[in-house]
Amino acid sequence: MASLFRWAAVLSGMALLHPLLKFSGFTIKPKPRYVKIAAPLPRSGVHAEREFFLFAGQDRSVAWAVSRTCTHLGCRVNFLEDKQIIECPCHQSRFTPQGARLAGPAQRNLPVFPVEVQKDENGAVTGYVVTL
Ligand code: FES
Repeated sequence: MASLFRWAAVLSGMALLHPLLKFSGFTIKPKPRYVKIAAPLPRSGVHAEREFFLFAGQDRSVAWAVSRTCTHLGCRVNFLEDKQIIECPCHQSRFTPQGARLAGPAQRNLPVFPVEVQKDENGAVTGYVVTL
């Protein structure tokens, strides 16, 4: 009987601990995810994924990835190739291809993800690895 009470005390303690940790803002950081994009990229130098745009410079050896989640209310942004800007379809916030805010209700830049450019032994770009 005593062990039953002990288990009940442990369970109720755990039940109280969860909201307390949640209230204090305690979070466990998720593991990073890696997305590999094979070279070559399209002629425009832009590759669109669901979560990010991958941009590459003229020689394709410099690349960066920008989140597609708008920092205003979370809509998925689009890249307007003719204007060379990223625009949100919901409230028309605009950003540079580097993710810097230009205009609109969004107050923060788009997050930028690290990109590793992979090359073969001759120095030719073989792919890109984006860390989310
Ligand atoms: S959600 Fe993008 S501007 Fe409002």
